[in-house]
Amino acid sequence: MSILISPSILSADFARLGDEVRAIDAAGADYIHIDVMDGHFVPNITIGPAVVKALRPHSSKVFDVHLMISPVDLFLKDFADAGADIITVHPEAGAHLHRTLQTIKALGKKAGVSLNPSTPLSAIVHVMDLVDLVLIMTVNPGFGGQSFIPLLDKVRDARAMIDATGRDIDLEIDGGVNQETARDVIKAGANVLVAGNYVFKNGQGHYATAIRSLRGDAV
Ligand code: DX5
Ligand code: ZN
Repeated sequence: MSILISPSILSADFARLGDEVRAIDAAGADYIHIDVMDGHFVPNITIGPAVVKALRPHSSKVFDVHLMISPVDLFLKDFADAGADIITVHPEAGAHLHRTLQTIKALGKKAGVSLNPSTPLSAIVHVMDLVDLVLIMTVNPGFGGQSFIPLLDKVRDARAMIDATGRDIDLEIDGGVNQETARDVIKAGANVLVAGNYVFKNGQGHYATAIRSLRGDAV
């Protein structure tokens, strides 16, 4: 299984985001992870659809948009129009998860669903026919640079659940991913790794090495 890396621009230099997106694109990122926070669903405020739209011309890689906002339904079209390729929501962010995922699909986008550390896999068992990506949070959402919560059994169970569908669904891990934790989650069945702090912390000259090391390539 090939491993895809989705650097989270939450840890990029916000004063020059376009340049940062071009840099991670050139450094070999597969997806660009965009963390959207509203100060209500999570205790932080980040970026909105206008910023996603402004970044769109800077990369043709997959825009992997992680919505940590509630209520989420009101903004799905805005993020779709802004250029999101994958739109990921949390089950707690609306009253009707199935309808939210149907809306994302009707907008022509890939639909993702994200589980907080304390949200069980049973929350998504009835929507697996609609999802293109399952995101397992390995930190409590809101901030970059937190330590990894070792939910490896949950990752293994998610992999089994995905395999049972027979469909091609990404299993993405988000939070505290570094070279060591990457190895563990890949072994547990993940195929997409989000990494913020680990990719961005040493500056643009180091992005490519960091991305390669997460994939497990020799660096
Ligand atoms: C947290 C975000 C993550 C975060 C990951 O709420 O969803 O995407 O940016 O950052 P690191 O890799 O630094 O833990
Ligand atoms: Zn995220």
